[in-house]
Amino acid sequence: MAYHPAVPLAELAPGVGRLVELNGKKIALFLTEGQVYAIDEICPHRGAPMHEGECEGLFVTCPWHNASFDLQTGKHQCPPAKSDLAVYPVRVVGETVEIDVG
Ligand code: FES
Repeated sequence: MAYHPAVPLAELAPGVGRLVELNGKKIALFLTEGQVYAIDEICPHRGAPMHEGECEGLFVTCPWHNASFDLQTGKHQCPPAKSDLAVYPVRVVGETVEIDVG
């Protein structure tokens, strides 16, 4: 378990997903409701890029078939997804967003 610097906080816009790659993992970052959340980039249904999803409040909707996921837990909220996304701990140190990719 270790946090890795991912991106300057200033580069995140509220509600707009940002793709980062850390330790070979693709991760989608969202700044929403005043916090940064990190989830797996790949939708468990058919592999859509989740950073292109629509973020509303604490939920993000897959850009391909509209499955919705909870950004705090990764849990899927509706079909067609049948499984959840991994979520990663995030912290902000100074002006930098850091992610614990495990
Ligand atoms: S690829 Fe995400 S819901 Fe189908």
